[in-house]
Amino acid sequence: MPAAVSDAQLVELALATRESAYAPYSGFRVGAALLTAGGRVFTGCNVENASYGLTVCAERVAVFSAVAGGAREFTALAVVGDGEGYCCPCGACLQVLHEFGPQVRLLLADARGGFRVKTVAELLPGGFSLSRND
Ligand code: THU
Repeated sequence: MPAAVSDAQLVELALATRESAYAPYSGFRVGAALLTAGGRVFTGCNVENASYGLTVCAERVAVFSAVAGGAREFTALAVVGDGEGYCCPCGACLQVLHEFGPQVRLLLADARGGFRVKTVAELLPGGFSLSRND
């Protein structure tokens, strides 16, 4: 079992991964770091495209990388953007996170490493699923 990753460490990983963002069109870089129930971390950055609609957000890159790596249970995701203040996942990313757990903790971080904590369910109440049981 890997050593436990703290919230502050997860935010630092998101900040470091923001450096890899490919954002020549918006100029807005985003970094994400996703912690699995087993203690692994998968990171993501936004990847833009000249065909703008093909852009993929940092959070989804992290989730898809984790799933490809065999992980499906997540406990926390840190996200940080280039703007002033805290960064919040967009609705599409919240829905993708909802698929794997409404209770995943979101660490909404700013450029100085400060963060506030919300769950997916708090930001996306009533997220879509094929059958509701909540
Ligand atoms: N972006 C993300 O990476 N995550 C979000 O949750 C919202 C927006 C990216 C997409 C695009 O490259 C840039 O931020 C500006 O919208």
